[in-house]
Amino acid sequence: MSRASIVVSSLVLSIAIACRTRDGDVEVRAAAPPKAPAQYDLGTPVDSARLKLIDIDVDPTGTTLPAGSGTAAKGLVVFAQNCAKCHGAKGEGIPPNPQLIGRDPREGFPFGRDAKLVRTVGNYWPYSTTLYDYVHRAMPLSVPGSLKPDDVYSVVAWILAENEIIPRDAVMDAKTLPAVKMPAAGRFVVDDRKGKVVR
Ligand code: HEC
Repeated sequence: MSRASIVVSSLVLSIAIACRTRDGDVEVRAAAPPKAPAQYDLGTPVDSARLKLIDIDVDPTGTTLPAGSGTAAKGLVVFAQNCAKCHGAKGEGIPPNPQLIGRDPREGFPFGRDAKLVRTVGNYWPYSTTLYDYVHRAMPLSVPGSLKPDDVYSVVAWILAENEIIPRDAVMDAKTLPAVKMPAAGRFVVDDRKGKVVR
């Protein structure tokens, strides 16, 4: 809506309110805006217990991965119970929920030339640790953060094993997961352009 039409429509609204009031109708008043608090508590230190609740990121090095471990066999159960209804029993994806399993095309990295190619954990993600971070942070979509570390490690192991990236019996934990080399590792460059200040 343009600025002019916003001004015009609010003018019409205030006239309508004025008319109704003068005719003896129910008086119509705009609701008062909520009162701002006297103080916003900005600058109050966050206590460590509250900070711990949101400090959950796992970066590519995996140094903040939690204790715990998991295997693909256990992950199959976790996946069936928590993920399959959206991502399909085999991780094939049920649109609009994305496909998680699949390595094609295995040769080259032609994603930049063909927007139709499906990007998956198996063919596109450069870091295994991101899988832990993302699943723990955002999945299952309706109850993110509900899985225990052992369950996250297990479902991550299952997704990696199904993508033929780790052996079926590999145990995933804070040490083994960061050591997993993803097929797309090294396919991305750090964007270190600094740009130029233009005045
Ligand atoms: C209610 C449906 C739903 C459930 C249940 C669910 N997901 Fe998802 N998942 C989604 C949607 C939708 C996306 C895409 C989110 C986006 O792109 O912002 C997604 C994205 C993902 C991705 C990223 C895929 C990619 O390549 O970008 C992974 C990995 C994933 N989910 C794993 C899981 C796991 C593991 C579980 C079970 C613990 C799970 N999901 C449960 C709906 C779901």
